Amino acid sequence: MKNQSKVVEYNFEANEFNWEISPGKTIEAWGFNKQLPGPTLRANAGDTLVVRLTNNLKESTMIHWHGLRIPATMDGTDAVQKPVDPGEVFEYRFVLPDAGTFWYHSHFNETEQMEKGLYGALIVEDQTDPVFDGEKVFMIDDMKLDSNNKFTKPGWAVPRIVERHDGREGNTLLINGKENPLIEIHAGQTERWRFINSSSARYFLLHLDGKEFKIIGTDGGLLERPRTVTSVLITPGERIDIAAGPFNEGESFALESLRYNRSTFLKPKRQIFATVKVGEQKPSTAFIPETLRRIEPLANQDAVITRKVKLSVGPSLKDGMNFLVNDDVHINDKPVKVGELQIWEVSNTSLMDHPFHLHGFFFQVIEENGKAPEYMAWKDTVNLTPRSKVKIAWMPDNRPGTWMYHCHIIEHHAAGMMANFEVYDSEKQSEDSLNTQSHHHHHHHHKP
Ligand code: C2O
Ligand code: CU
Repeated sequence: MKNQSKVVEYNFEANEFNWEISPGKTIEAWGFNKQLPGPTLRANAGDTLVVRLTNNLKESTMIHWHGLRIPATMDGTDAVQKPVDPGEVFEYRFVLPDAGTFWYHSHFNETEQMEKGLYGALIVEDQTDPVFDGEKVFMIDDMKLDSNNKFTKPGWAVPRIVERHDGREGNTLLINGKENPLIEIHAGQTERWRFINSSSARYFLLHLDGKEFKIIGTDGGLLERPRTVTSVLITPGERIDIAAGPFNEGESFALESLRYNRSTFLKPKRQIFATVKVGEQKPSTAFIPETLRRIEPLANQDAVITRKVKLSVGPSLKDGMNFLVNDDVHINDKPVKVGELQIWEVSNTSLMDHPFHLHGFFFQVIEENGKAPEYMAWKDTVNLTPRSKVKIAWMPDNRPGTWMYHCHIIEHHAAGMMANFEVYDSEKQSEDSLNTQSHHHHHHHHKP
């Protein structure tokens, strides 16, 4: 049976507004429809989403739909659209091809616009989703505020070099725009909790007081089978869906991030983001099957590498340090032909972690540091630990245009760890014409 597909429409206004992150503590946020996060968009796979964006900010903006396999022209980067200037309107319109946990965020002056709150969740549902007693979406963020609850300027509180190196990690921890919110769940019930890491640089190592939970999905939707764990790392850009509960009546515990050492200057800490309170017992109708779906492998571990992407850090006279792809900043990578299986070796030769994100296409990790991965998943963001390598496989389907990949630590992205590349349809364009095109490709850079 197929869903009756429909058109789901939203009007978005990007505004400056005051937002209370905890009682009496108000910040000057930037966001969509004066909410932080912006509205949670919900639709079914197959539906058409229409978002009409009016920009009431004093600077340009645009929206990137993180993880969505949509046409290049809707990807919301300055390679595919003109920025939406103050007072202008732009309509995003596309079909939602996949069920899963997605999000949207500004892709313009991101180090400032994302930090101030221009992001939100996009949930795409499907009839084949497992049945839960309830569902919650958690957008993880942190903000760097001074004692007057103002956003600090880069380099205000700590040497600028630290923020450039580590990425901007804030002192104010937020879930859905609130500090230490109370999360309620009924005893005896199991809920789907969808986590989205929307922070600039914070690595979130989810922990529920040592209680077991099941990972059921990630960036590109459901896994093949649930995985029972007590913690899971969610790096900037990534999503993790879990089955939480059942818990016991009257319990209360912290939803926290364990310490994760990603080799930053600032010392990692264990930190509480929210408090979970378990209410009265209720019956459960949740059912999580042992097999969630099948994921067909795109390639096996020994598939021949078609491209190498090297992430590294190098000295810079001007800024102390550059964040590089294949030894250069803000590069144009070689084009990719529609229908040609891509096997990329992504390596990280630096001494710190980088979450590698590919726009517009899901990939499968087929090898991690020489070993086959433990489970299959569709991903759009994968973390690379220091001096590590992954092999990813992905298929450029027929959505030609300019795409990009980058480190999702927003300050690293801004400092050069990014690439544009063309996906081309051989019928229409030759590789040569694309090569010349990409040479003259113009970039806007927003230096932090
Ligand atoms: Cu969420 Cu260019 O990325
Ligand atoms: Cu990085």
